[in-house]
Amino acid sequence: MLRFLTAGESHGPGLVAILEGLPAGVAVSEAAIREDLARRQAGYGRGGRMKIETDYAVIQSGVRHGRTLGSPISLLIENRDFSTGNGPDGKPWTHTMSKEPVEDEVTPIHRLRPGHADTPGIAKYAAEDARDILERSSARESTARVAVGAVCRAFLAEFGIEVHSHVTNIGGVEARSVEPIDWAAVEASPVRCADPVASKAMTEAIDAAREDGDSVGGIIEVIATGAPIGLGSHIQWDTKLSTKLIAAVGSLNAVKGVEFGTGFAQANERGSKVHDVIKPTEEWERKPDGSWARPWPRRSNNAGGLEGGMTTGEPLVVRAVVKPIATLRAPLPTVDTATGEPAEAHYERSDVTFVPTCGVIGEAMVLITLAEAMLEKFGGDHVDETKRNHAAYLATVGPRTSAAPTRTRANKASG
Ligand SMILES: Cc1cc2nc3c(=O)[nH]c(=O)nc-3n(C[C@H](O)[C@H](O)[C@H](O)COP(=O)(O)O)c2cc1C
Repeated sequence: MLRFLTAGESHGPGLVAILEGLPAGVAVSEAAIREDLARRQAGYGRGGRMKIETDYAVIQSGVRHGRTLGSPISLLIENRDFSTGNGPDGKPWTHTMSKEPVEDEVTPIHRLRPGHADTPGIAKYAAEDARDILERSSARESTARVAVGAVCRAFLAEFGIEVHSHVTNIGGVEARSVEPIDWAAVEASPVRCADPVASKAMTEAIDAAREDGDSVGGIIEVIATGAPIGLGSHIQWDTKLSTKLIAAVGSLNAVKGVEFGTGFAQANERGSKVHDVIKPTEEWERKPDGSWARPWPRRSNNAGGLEGGMTTGEPLVVRAVVKPIATLRAPLPTVDTATGEPAEAHYERSDVTFVPTCGVIGEAMVLITLAEAMLEKFGGDHVDETKRNHAAYLATVGPRTSAAPTRTRANKASG
């Protein structure tokens, strides 16, 4: 079983992640993790913190001589802010976030910020200071998820599985559909958008919101290619890959909806236009070794690569809508918890949008979910074992009458 946990507060000493269940033999490096962490930190519309932090995950365990050992992989990401920066009232973060009681009082946050975890959090955890809540609810935590996702990316690469993301909407500016997507161009776009015209309009929408002290949301799309047919299961509600992906991507801060393929737009179409027709075998492609490149291919992929909670072998397409940032320079009206009187919401350094970054975090969650699904299906204590199981399975998934070995024939041969 693959599982992971993160720990750490936004302005504490750092973040910790533990990933357990990855087989031995996977090539993992801090440099590769750093690449994804750098992608998370980029993006037009982000502010001060990204200039302070240069995130780096130090591998503490589970890797030796560049390969995983099969033991828990632990990662430590320092919050540089903590040791070098000043927090509220000009006091160092080491004071504001001190583990020990402090004599010199820290000004508590009483003016709750609508749209954040502040209000339900202080009620539920009996907190006097909303900082007790916001330090953990902050999306800084997603840095640890991106680091874990980068490790899973290395594992999935062994099977030819790639995961990318792009932005399709910021502040109501819709990108045109671009086919095929040039991923290098997406990475070069300041808003991680494949459509250069929309890219420019998106940056203008961000600038306009900044001028007004406001914020904008948008839509991200994560695309995974190379996943074999049959990951997940139709057997129980919680074994469906669709369930796991909705939970994983929906767990991102600020995500308000998740859809697959053409998703919600299917409400406007008839069934004959929606469902993905299967191509006859004469149109299937073979690999040089004679096996099918992709068994049971479709003429379209409106389902986003999932049917009955299982992968179809078509690209997995997951989209998420991200709400606009809740902390506004022109603050929202709120209530002061100390007095119960109306007040302006607390303002703490905040971005105008984080939609481009959400794509990178969405990738991480899809990477982790796919790695888990691959290990559930193929197992293996060493990645070579996983690969053998994967290859043996792929040899059986074509048509039952083909010259390729099928389950039926193998069963007959063994009596
Ligand atoms: C990458 C990223 C960066 C974020 N940065 C900010 C920010 O600067 N200011 C802010 O108010 N919210 C920010 N958020 C959103 C809050 O984390 C989120 O809205 C808050 O946890 C409320 O939770 P919910 O909307 O998910 O229910 C960010 C979210 C993500 C994913």
